[in-house]
Amino acid sequence: NMKRKIIIANWKMNLGFKESKTLSEKILKKLKTRPNFFLRNLKIKKLDIILCPSFTNLSEVSRILKSKSGIFLGAQDCFWEDHGEFTGEISPVWLKNLGCRYVILGHSERRKNLKETNNMVHQKVKAALKAELIPIICIGETLEERRRGIKDYVILDQLSSALTGIDLDLKQKIIIAYEPVWVIGSGRAITPNEAEYMNKIILQRMIDFYPLERVKKNISIIYGGSVSADNVKSFVDLETTDGVLVGGSSLKAAEFVKICQAII
Ligand code: PGA
Repeated sequence: NMKRKIIIANWKMNLGFKESKTLSEKILKKLKTRPNFFLRNLKIKKLDIILCPSFTNLSEVSRILKSKSGIFLGAQDCFWEDHGEFTGEISPVWLKNLGCRYVILGHSERRKNLKETNNMVHQKVKAALKAELIPIICIGETLEERRRGIKDYVILDQLSSALTGIDLDLKQKIIIAYEPVWVIGSGRAITPNEAEYMNKIILQRMIDFYPLERVKKNISIIYGGSVSADNVKSFVDLETTDGVLVGGSSLKAAEFVKICQAII
């Protein structure tokens, strides 16, 4: 698997303005001072690091990351229209203009707390691509769905709904993040074998949807759910896994940099 590896830090609603600023500065500093791990080498080392702060902190983190290559900015959500009478919503175009390259869509916490549906996620994916953002599409089954034995069906349904009718051109990329909902924040990841099984199902559906070359070059499949410095390598070493989405373990500079280091 020769694809670039991806590490995404999802800070969720955990950090305010000052904390976001401090954490991004600390991460940069640590990455720069690690032996054999200079920022300018990230390109060569085939690793993309993406930080996803809250909306109100994006511009500050964007300013900090700006001159540094190899670390990118992502938002945690966007709306499906680019402007208009949508009180409280955020345009994907503004995110792009702010320096975002990525946007997380359909995270299970939004599906649960804000009742985001597969169709809403689908519209957001379309809008993000149109704004030239790379969508990070989160899918995953709940514990109840797993117990009922419908996990594979749920994943395929989320995936198909998100992407139906969306063509990818040569330049457009998407990231699919498989995150078993019951594992998020639990401190206990699933086994690499289980992640591999799900990622193979996801890969198969992508091959059904898109030309093989497009899948190979433009679509990445990553794992999320209680990823830590201790287990990250066991996931990233898998044939079908191109990276990880990290929540809790991305909130401390030392732990997060260890995760990046483990992959390189
Ligand atoms: P976690 O969160 O790493 O804290 O489990 C992952 C996520 O929700 O993206």
